[in-house]
Amino acid sequence: MSLPNVNPTTTSSWKKLSEHFEEIKNVHMKDLFAKDGNRANKFTIRWDDFYVDFSKNRITEETFKYLLELTDEVKLKDAIESQFSGEIINETEERAVLHTALRAPKTTVFKVEGVNVMPEIYEVKAKIEAFTNDVVNGHLKGYTGKTFTDVVNIGIGGSDLGPAMVVDSLQYYKNQLTTHFVSNVDGDHVNEVIKKLNPETTLFVIVSKTFTTQETLSNANTLKSWFLKFTSEDAIAKHFVAVSTNIKNVKAFGIDENNIFPMWDWVGGRFSLWSAVGLTISLAVGYINFDNLLKGAHKMDEHFKNEDFSTNIPVVLALISVWYNNFFKAESEAVIPYSQYLNQFATYLQQGIMESNGKSVDRNGNPIDYQTGTIIWGEPGTNSQHAFFQLIHQGTKLIPADFIGFKKSLHGNQDHQDKLISNFLAQTEALLNGKTKADVKAEGTSNTLLPFKIFEGNKPTNTLFINKLLPESLGKLIALYEHKIFVQGIIWNIFSYDQFGVELGKQLASKILQEINSSSDNEHDSSTHNLLNYYKENS
Ligand code: F6P
Repeated sequence: MSLPNVNPTTTSSWKKLSEHFEEIKNVHMKDLFAKDGNRANKFTIRWDDFYVDFSKNRITEETFKYLLELTDEVKLKDAIESQFSGEIINETEERAVLHTALRAPKTTVFKVEGVNVMPEIYEVKAKIEAFTNDVVNGHLKGYTGKTFTDVVNIGIGGSDLGPAMVVDSLQYYKNQLTTHFVSNVDGDHVNEVIKKLNPETTLFVIVSKTFTTQETLSNANTLKSWFLKFTSEDAIAKHFVAVSTNIKNVKAFGIDENNIFPMWDWVGGRFSLWSAVGLTISLAVGYINFDNLLKGAHKMDEHFKNEDFSTNIPVVLALISVWYNNFFKAESEAVIPYSQYLNQFATYLQQGIMESNGKSVDRNGNPIDYQTGTIIWGEPGTNSQHAFFQLIHQGTKLIPADFIGFKKSLHGNQDHQDKLISNFLAQTEALLNGKTKADVKAEGTSNTLLPFKIFEGNKPTNTLFINKLLPESLGKLIALYEHKIFVQGIIWNIFSYDQFGVELGKQLASKILQEINSSSDNEHDSSTHNLLNYYKENS
């Protein structure tokens, strides 16, 4: 069975939403709050340690009703069922999409082409656990008998961003190992990391689903050559491990069979941190914390699968995002975590969201005449308040934003925490209410300055208030956005799990690389031709 493929714009709920949009587009949220004292409660979902308030959006109960009707018409329930039951929903690559299986309990059954994949998953998890414990406890040693002090994760895209973001986000839980991430083919990246390494005490984790990615293989080879300046080939088995589906290429690189952590083609790169791709996470924070991250994600999976759509966090956030993207024509969305630990969260989400839903052909293969994937960006508050918030408050663009905060601080400095949370709450309030001419005047502002100091307000936000940054809550948060991506892909009638758009650049880069290294010159536009020659002349 394949995914339903309904053009959302042909549904009756879309028509209702379009008409309703004309009525509501100029309504100020301030008035919606004034009219309904219960608005915040109506539009808040409390679930586990999550408090999700979506009342500061330009929606009414009618909007919400039509958005929920849209989920029926695009057959979202069936699509969720298809995903979780291991159907080949990544049709363009002929694969199932089962990252949810990676975080499910052992007794669950997830089948791919009739075969339960849970035993394999748990075999690999046991391997991750044993390896993590051996490295962290110092049982495994380097070629001179010293325990490991540093771990270098070599990967790019999903093989880098997920582990890097989680390790950074969970640094409070980190053990004695120092972790490094090498991703860019820019040699300065790997060389800067090399400066910090001691070959005797460094473990290299090469992560590449395909084991064909130019950046990762170049970095891995550079690190291997550097390592071999100090020791001989047989030391590689002690210091290099790999995570991949491509066992043949891993072996050809020289990695010992025992040091291979397998993964599967039914795990998409950008959804893979739950697999052995998360090995560096496990090494950095210990297996128990890694497993708790997975347990949290599983809880969110259950919520997503079973909860009524009206109180289903990923579904509701996806619908609100569609409302702005397709009706208000908002181009981008901001994600603002009020936690320095989530510094890399928006960068991580960029791949998940933009690689998945940056598509312009529908599931029937037809060009699309409506908007799909949103542009995603963001930085932690309060820093971002002093950087780009001006544009959100007073610019000409509508930028819906997710504010993510934690009630309790990990280090427990209450003075800082109170200040942080007061900013967290104040910004969404300011974005909602703005500041009227009367307010500005009452402050004694001169008539000349008046227009510059008025804030229109009516800027939408979601507030995700989470109790504490635990590995489990981070797992829930990441899974929430994964499911949001899925829901939006279903609504927009696109395939979210392929990424053919990144291929063209790769192909051309390998052609140009040949030209750089030879006197050959293929056909190029005059701009590329000149730039290439300029590079060849000056390098
Ligand atoms: O950028 C394209 C992409 O295929 C991503 O989807 C993926 O996460 C990344 O490259 C790395 O791929 P691999 O893990 O196969 O090296």
